[in-house]
Amino acid sequence: MLKIVVCVSGGGTNLQAILDAAEQGRITGTEIIAVISNNIKARALERAASHKIPGIVISPKNYPDRETFNEAFAAKMRELAPDLVVLAGFLVRIPPQMVADFSNRIVNIHPSLIPSFCGVGYYGLKVHEKVLERGVKVTGATVHFVNEGMDEGPIIAQKAVYVEENDTPEILQRRVMEQAEWILLPKAIDDIANGRIAVVEDKVVVRQRGDR
Ligand code: GRF
Repeated sequence: MLKIVVCVSGGGTNLQAILDAAEQGRITGTEIIAVISNNIKARALERAASHKIPGIVISPKNYPDRETFNEAFAAKMRELAPDLVVLAGFLVRIPPQMVADFSNRIVNIHPSLIPSFCGVGYYGLKVHEKVLERGVKVTGATVHFVNEGMDEGPIIAQKAVYVEENDTPEILQRRVMEQAEWILLPKAIDDIANGRIAVVEDKVVVRQRGDR
């Protein structure tokens, strides 16, 4: 059974997609042992509670400096000892010590086709604002392993989404979530839980069912 901790900051629609996929058998062999949020008001914590999953709030705001927060966050994750950490709309930088503790065991969903529209300052709605500003015709989402860089780890999967006439950032964000994020993240978790993912020389190899 793959033990998972999910980290959230907001609405938790990606967490909900994971919960729904597990209920419907599209994710097998996993257990979410805790949901961590930096935001005590995150609706994602309510979604966790309704599935009787323990919610934990750890926020940089509650620590004197970032280094102290990083130590506390990394220590909590070591204590929980998940097999996989899933960043689902999580807006806090992962401490370097946690990246080292969980090498290629932290996955993140990013709302663009990396390496486009990612890195410092590219999160949430801002990504879609920049997409529309640039006038690209295709965007999408990427699920990737987290390394010490920002949105630079090995890419696990991507899904393209068309930008449409009269899109606003909000409309585009919703389409990217519905058509890409909520599909990619559960599928990646199921692939990892069922041994279909390997990282070879910093590139992800996905073995289809029966390849083993
Ligand atoms: C989404 O745009 C997601 O791509 C980004 O955070 C936003 C909210 O995600 N990572 P959620 O509804 O909290 O899962």
